[in-house]
Amino acid sequence: MKAIVWTKYGPPEGLQLQEVEKPVPQNDEILIKIHAASVTAGDCEIRRLELPLSLSFPIRLYAGFRKPNRLRILGQELSGEVVQAGKDVTLFHVGDQVFGTTGFSFGAYGEYICLPEKPDETQGTLTFMPENLSYEEAAAVSTAGMEALHYIHKACLKKDQKVLIIGAGGSIGTLAVQIARLYGADITAVDSGEKLEMLKNLGADHTVDYTEKDYISQKNTYDLIIDVVGGHSVYGRLKMLKRKGYYFLAYANFSHIMLGIWTGVILKKKVRIESSGQSREEIEMLKKLIEEGKLKPVIDKIFPLREAAEAHRYAESGHKIGNVILKVDR
Ligand SMILES: NC(=O)c1ccc[n+]([C@@H]2O[C@H](COP(=O)([O-])OP(=O)(O)OC[C@H]3O[C@@H](n4cnc5c(N)ncnc54)[C@H](OP(=O)(O)O)[C@@H]3O)[C@@H](O)[C@H]2O)c1
Repeated sequence: MKAIVWTKYGPPEGLQLQEVEKPVPQNDEILIKIHAASVTAGDCEIRRLELPLSLSFPIRLYAGFRKPNRLRILGQELSGEVVQAGKDVTLFHVGDQVFGTTGFSFGAYGEYICLPEKPDETQGTLTFMPENLSYEEAAAVSTAGMEALHYIHKACLKKDQKVLIIGAGGSIGTLAVQIARLYGADITAVDSGEKLEMLKNLGADHTVDYTEKDYISQKNTYDLIIDVVGGHSVYGRLKMLKRKGYYFLAYANFSHIMLGIWTGVILKKKVRIESSGQSREEIEMLKKLIEEGKLKPVIDKIFPLREAAEAHRYAESGHKIGNVILKVDR
C-alpha cells in the first residue's frame, strides 16, 4: 500500500510517498481503508521536533533516536471504511464507515491501518461516522473535539460563565467555541485576521485580534481559559482567570507544569495540563452533537495524500483556518 513515510526529523520534505507493507488485523482489530486524515499542529510539531529537551528526548526514545525509524507514519485522526475484521471483533463489520483517533501509534497518513475495536490509550478510539459528514469532515473531529469537550466538562461550564479561548481559530478552538456556545457561556475568542469573522459565526460573543490588541489587562475575569498557544505569556494570561477558575493548556512544557503547581497552591487557580484520553463516550458525544446539527468541523484546505509535505507547509504557515485534510485518492 502507499503511505507517507516520515523519513527524518525536520522540514516537511522528510515526508515521502512510499510503498509499504499492508497491515494485517489481529483478532481484536479492524483493517480500515482510510479515506481521509487530518494534518494537526501536533503532527507538525513532532515532525519538526524543535521542542524542549523534556519533550523531544522521550519522543526520540519512542520514535527513533537519530531518525524516526520506529514510528514511520504520522497522522492521529482519520475516517474510513472497515474492510476486514479480526475474529474477536463484535462491534464493527465490513462496510461500516468509521472515524476516530490513532493515539500514540499514529499511522493515519496511509491507505490502510489496523486499529483495535475497543478504545485503547495508546492506539486511540473509533466509532461509526456521523451520517451528515463527508469523510474529509469526519477526519477533522476526533482528537481536537475530544480535547475541547474534556476541558469544558472538567470545568463544569455553566450558562453565562465567561470563557476565553486563546488560539480559537484552529482545530481545538473552532470546536471549543461551538461546544461552549451549547452551554450558554459568554465566549471571547482570540486569534488573528480573517478567522475572527468565522469565530463570530461559530458563536463567539467577542473576538480579539492578538496581533493588534493586548487583551491581557483584564484581571480575574474568566471562569475558564482554554489556551492552545502556551509559550512564555502563560503567567501573564493567568491573571485573567478568576480564583477557582480553570486554565487548560493544550501545549505545555516543564515550566508550565511548575507554574501549574505553584498557582494551584498559592492562588487557588486550577491550571490543568492534561489530555482527554481515549474514551468512547466522548467520541460518541461528538458524533451525537454533529448528527443533531450542533457541531460542525471547519475545513480550510484538502490536499491529496501524495502532497502531505505541501499540506504540512500550509498547516504551519499561519494561514490555516480550522483544519487541513489529506484525502486518500486511489
Ligand atoms: N489538535 C489536537 O487534537 C490537539 C490535541 C492535544 C494537544 N494539541 C496541542 O494543542 C496545540 C494547538 O492545537 P491546534 O490543533 O488547535 O492548533 P492550530 O489548529 O494550529 O490552532 C492554533 C491557533 O492559534 C493561533 N495563534 C497562534 N499564536 C497565537 C497567539 N499568540 N494568540 C492567539 N492565537 C494564536 C493560530 O493562528 P495564527 O498561526 O494564524 O496566528 C491558530 O489559529 C498544539 O500545540 C497541539 O500540539 C492539539
